[in-house]
Amino acid sequence: MNTELVVPPLAELRLRRSVKWRAFPEDVLPLFVAEMDYELAPPVSEVLHAAVTRGDLGYHAPGPEVGKAFSGFAGRQWGWDVDPARVRPVTDVGVGVVEVLRQLIRHGEPVVISPPIYQPFFDWVPEAGGRVLEVPLRGTRLDLAGLEAAFATHPAAYLLCNPHNPVGRVHTADELAELVRLARLYRVPIISDEIHAPLALPGATFTPLLTVPRAADVAIAVVSASKAFNLAGLKCAALVTAGPAMTRVVDGLFTEVGERTGHLGALATIAAFTDGDAWLATLISTLAARREQLGALLAAELPALGWVPPEATYLAWLDASALGRDEQPRDHFLHEARVALEPGPRFGAPGSGFVRLNYATSPEILTEAVRRMSAAVSR
Ligand SMILES: Cc1ncc(COP(=O)(O)O)c(C=O)c1O
Repeated sequence: MNTELVVPPLAELRLRRSVKWRAFPEDVLPLFVAEMDYELAPPVSEVLHAAVTRGDLGYHAPGPEVGKAFSGFAGRQWGWDVDPARVRPVTDVGVGVVEVLRQLIRHGEPVVISPPIYQPFFDWVPEAGGRVLEVPLRGTRLDLAGLEAAFATHPAAYLLCNPHNPVGRVHTADELAELVRLARLYRVPIISDEIHAPLALPGATFTPLLTVPRAADVAIAVVSASKAFNLAGLKCAALVTAGPAMTRVVDGLFTEVGERTGHLGALATIAAFTDGDAWLATLISTLAARREQLGALLAAELPALGWVPPEATYLAWLDASALGRDEQPRDHFLHEARVALEPGPRFGAPGSGFVRLNYATSPEILTEAVRRMSAAVSR
């Protein structure tokens, strides 16, 4: 049996029309945006092919299927008992977060985030009418004392990223329990972006926030199959609640918000969450192998770069500050190595001098990228 997922040849990858393969000229290896190079999970591609063959490309039909599929998946993966009736499909994670924030923010109120963090968090808050209040991570950990001081000022919400993009940290059950204690004490709702949850790598245990005792009173989770199954273009995610107060917040959304879910996205999500476990297990061992390979390559060829191996995701947060500050390392690697990485400052001020590298690719492409980066450093 194949223990690693297959990556199509580079020439075939370049035929893809998503942003990963369209943003840069052909001589650039694109390791920036969070899209994977692997072939789709067979249950997902079967359901999509069947829909296209039938001409089944109409509107998403609201129904219980996404909820049931996610509930089954969450139970098998994490022992999380999800009520399917409290899973509400939305267009994508961004739409889910913004629409919930609109319910929680009275004009101009702050929403707390912990940079370095997924860049759109900085935009989603003002999009929903709020302003960002930053409590940076301490290293790769939540700054719980800093969060308490911020929560004491009664912000409209805290936007959690678990697992955390870009540092790849899986917050522990103890950290999350303390976070919930603070949120309850100061009455701060938590929106937990758990899009990377299925991507916890060997050695890490993901804790869904809503499994933390009493979190249901203050938390809403936003989940999606899109990162782990590479479905970002299909537009389907879901809001999950577990208690009456937070369910009322979600019930306050216009019905239209749910109706904007992508039909193909919902079909693919149901297939992924129902029949995708075996493929996902192979993905996880593939990513674990790439993470190890990247560590070995960095040690041998790019010792100037520092990193803490991620506990989840396929994103490596590399400290390249020895090579320059702000976006200089990213610019150098793009121009001199022809390797496209995400510039650290996109994730907030603590990202100065960092780059984020997506290693969800083949061993050959990863080797070639590090070889080029290494040659560019000595240039
Ligand atoms: C933490 C995080 N949240 C949300 C998203 C985007 O999700 P969506 O496309 O469903 O809005 C990403 C994409 O990489 C992400 O890393």
